[in-house]
Amino acid sequence: MKISKVNQSRINEVDFSNLPFGKVFTDHMLICTYENGQWGEPEIRPYGPIPMSPATHALHYGQAVFEGMKAYRKDNGVVSIFRPEANFQRLNRSAERMTIPPVPRELFMDGLIQLIQLDYDWVPAGEDISLYIRPFLYASSEFIAARPSESYVFCILLSPSGPYYSGAVKVKIEEKFVRSADGGVGFAKAAGNYGAAFYPTRLAQEAGFTQIIWTDHKNHQLIEESGTMNVAMVIDGVFRTPALSDRILAGITRDSILTMLRDQGYPVQEGPVTVDELLTAAREGRLNEMFGMGTAAVISPISHIGYRGQIVEVPTPTDGLSVSIKKALSDIRLGRTADKYGWMHDVFRP
Ligand code: COI
Repeated sequence: MKISKVNQSRINEVDFSNLPFGKVFTDHMLICTYENGQWGEPEIRPYGPIPMSPATHALHYGQAVFEGMKAYRKDNGVVSIFRPEANFQRLNRSAERMTIPPVPRELFMDGLIQLIQLDYDWVPAGEDISLYIRPFLYASSEFIAARPSESYVFCILLSPSGPYYSGAVKVKIEEKFVRSADGGVGFAKAAGNYGAAFYPTRLAQEAGFTQIIWTDHKNHQLIEESGTMNVAMVIDGVFRTPALSDRILAGITRDSILTMLRDQGYPVQEGPVTVDELLTAAREGRLNEMFGMGTAAVISPISHIGYRGQIVEVPTPTDGLSVSIKKALSDIRLGRTADKYGWMHDVFRP
């Protein structure tokens, strides 16, 4: 791998006690291009602009996918990546759906590890901060015929980040716009899934909400996921989350929480949750809590649900499941409890 280092690190310019989400980038990035049917030699180089033609394919047709993952600084100072294999697999599932060639495991893993080793000092230590990792893949051919690109770029950016949401989230149940449909790209982390959500999300924000809860495209009766995270609720003491389908992103935080809860013998139901059932449970005081689950969002409590002009309050107990499961996950990530599921991938300073 070709490595060109910065002459002078920018790390001293960063206020690590006040990190926003996804706005600060480390000194280096990884970049690799796919041309003539094969991946070239990866390169780590100073973080900075990638010159591109205005005819760059991804800008016109959105043939682009990405991942979101995190590395933590454990209490013993070692940096550790959370479930990188799961993100690698999901990136390539998304890529396949978008007719993008798969990224070889070695390129993804070795590239990521070498990049983190180089920017090791940028990984923050603390409870609600981490190194957000953004691998992405985009179509880079210079032509505007509507067919798959012939060349691609794989890139990894590192961003020391604070929490995505600053407090409890107010969600609006969306009944007009849809995020995904059967047979569509909802399960993929395709760039356009997020871009298309901005307009309905902005309308919800103008009405005082933080995020949308998407419902099914046919009848708007089934809860699906939220804009930036999967969603879960505890109803009558049972953890409920919509089952995965080709309309729902297979969240790695979601999967980790399900694994831990099943292991603890907590009652779990993965299956349909209707809007009616959720609102009735909330009104009858049987909705114990509700929260979003995602890499960026971690576990974000939901405090209000908006539906057809009405607002229903949701309890956000400080001794509830979202708080205890967030702590259990954080304990694994920071090396405070045994990594019994083998999720942490330690990266040592070279
Ligand atoms: C993530 O959680 O990593 C995501 O990609 C969500 C994005 C909206 C920040």
